[in-house]
Amino acid sequence: MFKVENIRKDFPILSRQVNGKPLVYFDNAATSQTPQQVIDVIVDYYSNYNANIHRGVHALSQEATDLYEQARYKIQAHFNAKHAHEIIYTSGTTHGINLVANGFSTILKKGDEIIVSALEHHSNIVPWQMLCERTGASLKVIPMNQNGELEIKAFETLINQNTKLVFVNHISNALGTINPIEHIIKKAHEVGAAVLVDGAQSSPHIKPDVQALDVDFYVVSAHKMCGPTGVGVLYGKEDWLNKLPPYQGGGEMIAEVTFEKTTYAALPHKFEAGTPNICGGIAFGAAIDYMNAVGFDAIAAYEHELLKYATNKLLEIEGLKIYGTSKHKTSVISFNLEGIHPYDVGTILDKLGVAVRTGHHCAQPIMDYFKIPGTVRASFAFYNTKSEIDILVEGVKKAKMMLS
Ligand code: ALA
Repeated sequence: MFKVENIRKDFPILSRQVNGKPLVYFDNAATSQTPQQVIDVIVDYYSNYNANIHRGVHALSQEATDLYEQARYKIQAHFNAKHAHEIIYTSGTTHGINLVANGFSTILKKGDEIIVSALEHHSNIVPWQMLCERTGASLKVIPMNQNGELEIKAFETLINQNTKLVFVNHISNALGTINPIEHIIKKAHEVGAAVLVDGAQSSPHIKPDVQALDVDFYVVSAHKMCGPTGVGVLYGKEDWLNKLPPYQGGGEMIAEVTFEKTTYAALPHKFEAGTPNICGGIAFGAAIDYMNAVGFDAIAAYEHELLKYATNKLLEIEGLKIYGTSKHKTSVISFNLEGIHPYDVGTILDKLGVAVRTGHHCAQPIMDYFKIPGTVRASFAFYNTKSEIDILVEGVKKAKMMLS
């Protein structure tokens, strides 16, 4: 197991103050913090070899291209994709989902069905609703229960020969539930449906093996896993990526352009029109190196300890209710104090230097299910500590006293 005091030294932001108090950063599900090792890579890029890639014979362009493509290999190895060209750089999870949704608009037809889960982020709901409007396909929803778990038996009755696609997150951003994606993928494949897994919240905590999962598409964002914002990847099985049309037209994604007809580049470039986030891609590779050096098993074990500690402490506060109580969950605690609006609790916590997210977490259907406007969400990363959790708990007690 790593020593958290040493890990914390890697993150300069963790030593700053907020409102005169040491920062306690518990908004990791929204974005993670960046270690010096990744910051150094970003500074090095802009200081030493900033250039456009795949287009120049000059030294800077070659260096930038090599490092950007090396990062793609790192990402391939991390997710255990069979081929590097199955890794498509995107601007993040939302871009990856929209790319796939757009592609399926040429495949789906009226009468086809697609399935999402009740636990999805808006980014894994809205693109599919737009797809249904364009194609005449219909959307079905896997229901959830009071623990914030999917009703898998209901999923098994929803799926049938008309099902063409299933979309589910690996881990819920709002509740932290870890979904049984292995089972969902197996069942979907039995009827020939493809599966897209939103891995935005899982990739910071576990290392998914896309080949072992046999998943068709897996989408992630770098900024949830110690990398920069504005970059992510879509993993897609080669066959699917070959079947889908390009998402955007432009430079880089073509083989040949004439006014009569344009032919497209091979994978992965077919889906990578325009100048990409070059520095972001390289820094994403560095972030993956960093997280692997810490170790995903150690990260999961430590975060589980934080989750247990925080859950027990928070539940000692009378009138506090936790939403999302699955046995299979990651280090996210969504909660409310009886009769108190989550924004008010978040505002008082901020005054104490504690950063949490408040609101519906881009998952309004989950809030509607629980009949609440939103929650206070504390999400822990491997650089957080139990003493920070103590500060959160004292802050919540104070908020309760002030607002009751
Ligand atoms: N999807 C991010 C969150 O859950 C922004 O906060």
